[in-house]
Amino acid sequence: MGINGIYVLATVVTLCARLLHGLENGLARTPPMGWLAWERFRCNTDCKNDPDNCISDKLFRTMTDLVISEGYADVGYEYINIDDCWLDKERSYSGHLQPDAERFPYGIRDLSDYVHSKGLKFGIYEDYGNYTCAGYPGSLGYLEADAHTFASWNVDYVKLDGCYSHPKDMDIGYPEFGYHLNRTGKAMVYSCSWPVYQIYAGSQPNFTKIIENCNLWRNFDDIQDSWASLESIIDYYGNNQDNIIPNAGPGHWNDPDMLIIGNFGLSYEQSKVQMAMWAILAAPLLMSVDLRSIRPEYKAILQNKKIIAVDQDPLGIQGRRIYKHKGIEIWARPITPISHSYFSYAVAFLNRRTDGTPSDVAVTLQEMGLVAPGGYRIEDLYEDVDYGVLTPQTKIKVKVNPSGVVILRADVQPIPYRQPASTPYNPFRQIFRPTTLSPNSFK
Ligand SMILES: *[C@@H]1O[C@H](CO)[C@@H](O)[C@H](O)[C@H]1NC(C)=O
Ligand SMILES: *[C@@H]1O[C@H](CO)[C@@H](O)[C@H](O)[C@H]1NC(C)=O
Ligand SMILES: *[C@@H]1O[C@H](CO)[C@@H](O)[C@H](O)[C@H]1NC(C)=O
Repeated sequence: MGINGIYVLATVVTLCARLLHGLENGLARTPPMGWLAWERFRCNTDCKNDPDNCISDKLFRTMTDLVISEGYADVGYEYINIDDCWLDKERSYSGHLQPDAERFPYGIRDLSDYVHSKGLKFGIYEDYGNYTCAGYPGSLGYLEADAHTFASWNVDYVKLDGCYSHPKDMDIGYPEFGYHLNRTGKAMVYSCSWPVYQIYAGSQPNFTKIIENCNLWRNFDDIQDSWASLESIIDYYGNNQDNIIPNAGPGHWNDPDMLIIGNFGLSYEQSKVQMAMWAILAAPLLMSVDLRSIRPEYKAILQNKKIIAVDQDPLGIQGRRIYKHKGIEIWARPITPISHSYFSYAVAFLNRRTDGTPSDVAVTLQEMGLVAPGGYRIEDLYEDVDYGVLTPQTKIKVKVNPSGVVILRADVQPIPYRQPASTPYNPFRQIFRPTTLSPNSFK
């Protein structure tokens, strides 16, 4: 495979050298994890005919309970986030936001208290424009008041959408709302839709400014319940990676949108792809699925601790596509531990082909940029396969299912002492032989 192995490492070093001054509200040091209503439950306000699935107090309490009882909280999911369609159609007489009184009969503070009483965090949705995307009152003209309302409800996370506003106003408006959030004194994760609306309007977002003001932001289309939608997002992040990746880091993340795993549109293999790719992309992990009825195999994907650990890696470096040819892609993300300035990596082999049999991919670690002379301990993150410690020259072979993924973790090993020649051969402790590496490998 024609991969320039050194390229990955060089890019990563450049990336780290670039100093980013992100929003420092102390939050989202790793990508936020939680549950968000939108993709699965949309704007269903019909509680008369569909009481179990409408956007209501009951839905959020139910999901809160399930995040705890079904073990999602134990693996890191912590935010319970409302999306659009929670509001009354009008502000109160005093100009304050108020929830729909029938669907949220106890008010938002009561729901927030409930979520907190379970040890979780509470998120809400508003819009920078005159209306939310579904036509409820927006925050334009009320930015300060709304920030205070959210603080008074003990909100931990605000997603601010961008419908019914002028994208050119966002460079002022999003920072202004962030300023008001900050001034409340209540730390709230700030999720922005700022760049995606500007990109739609044909203008170039100022990511320097976005990073200074937002904890996360949407770059591309809303995810829909389909493989085509998921593929379009993966392509967007791959095709624009040189511009997108440098913006990610602790406190500030690109948001490719919700996890749709466990819904209707993705097969089992495709669901594994989303989880693996979101981890490579250092993406927020916001499940949007009915936790009452999710099948166990999908729940297991969402609760895969090894993949979550990649997503939550403390370096916060977003991964990149390092190979793409005839439907096969390789993506790699630098992660901890680091040894002698060599990163460890998560590597995803993605098969976009639809011929109905697994595709073989064979590549040396070196060709993927994994050149640490001590080698790497390689482990499959879905299957129970431990490859042991492999040298950079080792060719690794994987079978990747159609519209499926194999994701590996490669933990860099300490650089070994010269071993005496008499050391018995052990495939799990391969010995580094300096003569077999080109001088380039050490750059
Ligand atoms: C928002 O509403 C105000 C008052 O009606 C109007 O002047 C303004 O143009 C609207 N903004 C947008 C982006 O539609
Ligand atoms: C407000 O911003 C300051 C300066 O960046 C920061 O130190 C502080 O933690 C922020 N407070 C909140 C509540 O976000
Ligand atoms: C982008 O934002 C930064 C930080 O706010 C600012 O210094 C810079 O001038 C802006 N760039 C452009 C092209 O407006």
